[in-house]
Amino acid sequence: MTQPTAADLALRLPSLRLLTDAGDLEHYGRDWTRRWTPAPLAIALPSSIEEVQGVVRWANEHGVAVVPSGGRTGLSGGAVAAHGELVLSLERMNRVLGFDAVDRTLTVQPGIALEAVHAAAREHDLVYPVDFAARGSCSIGGNIATNAGGIRVIRYGNTREWIAGLKVVAGNGELLDLNRGLIKNSSGYDLRQLMIGSEGTLGIVVEATLRLTDPPPSSQVMLLALPDMDALMRVFALFRAQLSLQAFEFFTDVALKHVLEHGAQRALDGDHPYYVVTEFEAPDERAQEAALAAFEQGVEQGLISDGVLAQSDAQAAALWRLREGITESLAPHKPYKNDISVRIGAVPAFLHEIQSLLAREYPHIEVVWFGHIGDGNLHINVLKPESLADADFIAQCEHVTKLLAATLQRQGGSISAEHGIGLVKRPYLESTRSAAEIALMRGVKGVFDPNGILNPGKVFP
Ligand code: MLT
Ligand code: ZN
Repeated sequence: MTQPTAADLALRLPSLRLLTDAGDLEHYGRDWTRRWTPAPLAIALPSSIEEVQGVVRWANEHGVAVVPSGGRTGLSGGAVAAHGELVLSLERMNRVLGFDAVDRTLTVQPGIALEAVHAAAREHDLVYPVDFAARGSCSIGGNIATNAGGIRVIRYGNTREWIAGLKVVAGNGELLDLNRGLIKNSSGYDLRQLMIGSEGTLGIVVEATLRLTDPPPSSQVMLLALPDMDALMRVFALFRAQLSLQAFEFFTDVALKHVLEHGAQRALDGDHPYYVVTEFEAPDERAQEAALAAFEQGVEQGLISDGVLAQSDAQAAALWRLREGITESLAPHKPYKNDISVRIGAVPAFLHEIQSLLAREYPHIEVVWFGHIGDGNLHINVLKPESLADADFIAQCEHVTKLLAATLQRQGGSISAEHGIGLVKRPYLESTRSAAEIALMRGVKGVFDPNGILNPGKVFP
């Protein structure tokens, strides 16, 4: 039997936009991981739900693998097409479809950027509160596919909390209309929630109804310098007890070095091993005084060495850049990314265990720690030394990730807190999910995608 080609798909759907130029295949076949060589069959750019269904039906009939594609800002290889897959890019389906003032929901197409969702919500004096640094490039469909977290999970939770309804095309081309914006719905399994975080392996999101909320009260941003690792969680406990935290993010001196080299501005003098950027609600003088009191308490207890409170929006943005600019500043060093989580209570012990593991295994390799410590989510980025070949570097990182996974398994943590399993963490899924769970997950995959055409090779070991 001959292999189906892009020309066959064009014959079936003459009005579908299809790209096959080498430059396009390269551009759409990779995500931010940059580890795999893109080699897709073609890029399909549907402009309607019906066209998505047409593409999926064709792929299903011919056994062609489909990689759903949004902003491709993913860090786990979930949107990589390296084995002749058809990339189904949702980028042309990027409109706001409607706003419901009574339900306070925004209905959007999947290709819309997170930043555009924020702007659309603001037009109605409301907010869509999920937020992270890739806001300008990532798409809401990808956010849903990975259950994206980010910098305000501590206050608002993950993407999962904000999805009131989803339209999804399953692996046989069938359109599912899940939950339809209902707040209360106890009519059996919540298939909407099953789709969220399924990394394009169960269905393709073609429309989403997002919950919006009131804008938060005005807030303040503070940068703190801490003397040691133990202070991190103690300062977190102190601040959380006294303030309404919107964000509590940490990074190390090594991360700071990179972000400063990348153009961010130094905000504190001196060298400190750990830093925290925190944002808290400060609508009135009382809340502002509480923040200063918490800061002073931290200093008196020897937990805080220095700090700065932003005095303007521009200064707040500059402090945030120290944290949000880290990913971009590390990109040229081809980092191997670990994105792990443990229960908040387990963070201190975990930090110590991992610090000694990394010091032992990577004595000469630069390791950058940062992340959403208030959610128990740490990003551990390992930078490739120039002297090490790519393959040797990956092999060494995988060895260490294996050790990390074993520690996580013992502590009941997760090998992926927010980036997803994709290709990068596929070998370690078993450290986080039991054999029984993985068997059930495979069963679920078979129900929604009987011929296994949706993002094959992703998630499952
Ligand atoms: C972030 O929080 O900045 C990203 O999720 C982390 C990363 O680049 O590893
Ligand atoms: Zn993150």
